[in-house]
Amino acid sequence: MNDKTKDDILMEVKNLSKQFPVKKDRLIKNAAWLKAVDNVSLQVYRGETLGLVGESGCGKTTLGRCIVRGISSTQGEVIFHGEEGPVNFLDLKGSRLKKYRRDIQMIFQDPYSSLDPRMTVYDIISEPLRINRMGTGEEIDQKVKDIAREVGLNIAHLKRYPHAFSGGQRQRVGIARALATNPSIIVCDEAVSALDVSIQAQVINLLDELQYKYGITYIFVAHDLSVVEYISDRVAVMYVGQVTELADTGELFSRPLHPYTEALMSAVPKPDPRMRMERIVLEGEVPSPIDPPSGCYFHPRCPYRKPICETDKPELREVEQDHFCACHRAEELTLKGA
Ligand SMILES: Nc1ncnc2c1ncn2[C@@H]1O[C@H](COP(=O)(O)OP(=O)(O)OP(=O)(O)O)[C@@H](O)[C@H]1O
Ligand SMILES: [Mg+2]
Repeated sequence: MNDKTKDDILMEVKNLSKQFPVKKDRLIKNAAWLKAVDNVSLQVYRGETLGLVGESGCGKTTLGRCIVRGISSTQGEVIFHGEEGPVNFLDLKGSRLKKYRRDIQMIFQDPYSSLDPRMTVYDIISEPLRINRMGTGEEIDQKVKDIAREVGLNIAHLKRYPHAFSGGQRQRVGIARALATNPSIIVCDEAVSALDVSIQAQVINLLDELQYKYGITYIFVAHDLSVVEYISDRVAVMYVGQVTELADTGELFSRPLHPYTEALMSAVPKPDPRMRMERIVLEGEVPSPIDPPSGCYFHPRCPYRKPICETDKPELREVEQDHFCACHRAEELTLKGA
């Protein structure tokens, strides 16, 4: 994904925020807001896999759900560059929304709870085709069988219910359903995290093959950094609702510019124990998105903090070409990679 140009952009997330009302006190209504996603801007290139990492609760799922309009955003835009030129997906209504929804799909961590247990696998895969009237009954029937084959499901098993499948097979059903409408982009939220390592590898290979064949773009959310390193062309790191660093995968893993990324990297298991770096133990807890710290959200845990970090919020900026970082000290620090 080198030499990226504006023409290669498939999606631009612009200043996207999602706040949830939280009641601090039972007597006071909506006394506080939880900023789950806080002014996130990023670009996704056509055909790439953009990894999204960060500690639990940093807003990865919420960002993914806002992008696919699974939930409404509080503020911001998601500009989708389709055949008809750029449109703000979050502004669309009616038939245009329906049309663009086909292009932007999501698969979830737990295929058991995301697949309706009362529907057969055939119905699960064909539902988006029927809703979108994508063909005659016969055509839809053929398409379901083709997709099932494509994702490695046994056609004879299409009449079964999700509970009769293993975790890996259920994830294939989820992928088949997402694939049915020929999407341009799929948000994969911890799509392989619940699977055994060998099954994980099979599903990752399947996602890779589908990308190669159909040029699908992925936003790949995962907490396992080695999986993210393997599958992603670029990686965005999130901390308390914000993107703190974004770069090509090799660059981010070898030369992180943000102290938080360095800390995350130190936790990646190394195959050779002699190479194992000293794990950086982060001081303090992840701050609450209801009441985040002043200045840089990471400053209370940052070993490199200076007075400015406590008062001024650092913007995400292009510190080096295609390498974005939100740290006041990005230029002066030399940090350790994975
Ligand atoms: N419906 C909701 N109502 C209130 N708060 C919510 C809701 N959904 C998410 N949150 C909060 O928003 C923040 C971000 O949650 P989110 O699920 O997006 O994190 P995540 O990065 O996906 O975490 P994980 O790695 O555990 O999946 C968390 O503090 C969470 O508690
Ligand atoms: Mg999540």
